[in-house]
Amino acid sequence: MHDQASALRDLVSRNKNKQNKMRVIAVTSGKGGVGKTSFTVNLALALAELGQRIVILDGDLGLANVDIAFGLSARYTIEHLLSGEKTIEQILLSAPRGIEIIPGGSGVQKLANIERDRLTNVIANLGRLEKIADLLIIDTGAGLGHTVMNFLLAADDIIMVITPEPTSLTDGYGLLKSLKQEAGDATIHVVINRVRTETDALATFKRLDTVVNKFLEGSINLLGWVYDDPLVGRSVMQQEPLGIKFPESSAYRCIQWIAGKVAGISLHPPRQAGGVRGFLGKLLRSF
Ligand SMILES: Nc1ncnc2c1ncn2[C@@H]1O[C@H](COP(=O)(O)OP(=O)(O)O)[C@@H](O)[C@H]1O
Ligand SMILES: [Mg+2]
Repeated sequence: MHDQASALRDLVSRNKNKQNKMRVIAVTSGKGGVGKTSFTVNLALALAELGQRIVILDGDLGLANVDIAFGLSARYTIEHLLSGEKTIEQILLSAPRGIEIIPGGSGVQKLANIERDRLTNVIANLGRLEKIADLLIIDTGAGLGHTVMNFLLAADDIIMVITPEPTSLTDGYGLLKSLKQEAGDATIHVVINRVRTETDALATFKRLDTVVNKFLEGSINLLGWVYDDPLVGRSVMQQEPLGIKFPESSAYRCIQWIAGKVAGISLHPPRQAGGVRGFLGKLLRSF
């Protein structure tokens, strides 16, 4: 077991000095149903419009539905990759604008708790993503589970989605609290979804920011907000993403604005070992 772990660490750090350009962004929330999947899918579409090559990892164990949001249906999942039955190229699901989806399924938990004997193969496969993508966006499940936490700690940047609802705020605060305990001073980027007005967004952020400043170390950053928009629900029902079906909608315009920020700035100073190897290395160290 020890030998395997060190062999693995070697493998992970072998290309440390090479420029790994793929960033990993985890989208998360304290509470389910706040709009993570809608946001992730449309952020991917908006980033693709800006010329970024995107892969989405559907990492929600309970409600994996990135494929459904695109009107697609996954044939294989990361489970097939972990078992060695399929390669990464075989499980990728192609969506519009060059976006590729990695369906997670029950393999997600296994990935975050990687079986060490499978790891060489997984690294080799996921490493190939760096040739096809600039950005890996993970739609994590909600909450404080071990799997979600491992993904968050391994990502380069974390975007937390909340809504102005009091329960979303308290659950969001709970998630921040455990993240700060584990990740220290990492800045967490907050998106406020389903706001009525800009004032509503700013007031919601202020409520969260006040308790964070009072009780937690580090800070949170208001990345942006998305208006409550009936066209979001309609696009979900029609299984056609907002960014394709209703690109002029107020919600999608907000997401385009956020995508501009995500593409234009490095949310986080690049870490030495970035990319897939850095990500897996950190995932490994989190045990
Ligand atoms: N900005 C928005 N305006 C209106 N409805 C929204 C918005 N964002 C999400 N929703 C609705 O909330 C529901 C849950 O969204 P979803 O993305 O599945 O949440 P999560 O992934 O966090 O569980 C969807 O049915 C969607 O219609
Ligand atoms: Mg979801």
